[in-house]
Amino acid sequence: MHDKSQLIQEAIKASKLAYAPYSKYFVGAALLTKSGKIFTGCNVENASYGLCICAERIAVFNAVSNGERGLSSIAVVTADGGSSCGACRQVMYEFNPQLSIIIANFKGEIVLETTALDLLPHPFGLDGHLTNF
Ligand code: THU
Repeated sequence: MHDKSQLIQEAIKASKLAYAPYSKYFVGAALLTKSGKIFTGCNVENASYGLCICAERIAVFNAVSNGERGLSSIAVVTADGGSSCGACRQVMYEFNPQLSIIIANFKGEIVLETTALDLLPHPFGLDGHLTNF
């Protein structure tokens, strides 16, 4: 069984792997699938700044590329409890508009609990996109 605080702890662990020499803003994400597995991600930056990728998207792509599209909840942690960027909101929404999103800081304090749809009002989506499974 995975509870919220466990997921946050996994995200904190993942943040320690962040490669963020440019921004020095370390982000960790831990994603729980409907099948009960956890996939993690951290931000990975590049000297060509536009190539930086966020922790949330790495966690989602990690799950999906391992055959897990049923996303249940994700914990995202940073030093200041910052929220997810717009690109990540769109990617999280794709696989489950009702995805539970827990934003926390490195102390494990929750600063926001919301859903993908609430973070992305008036979302873009195509008919038949992969939801509700
Ligand atoms: N970052 C994330 O990992 N997730 C977000 O939702 C916002 C931003 C990363 C990207 C970059 O490595 C650093 O934080 C500063 O923008």
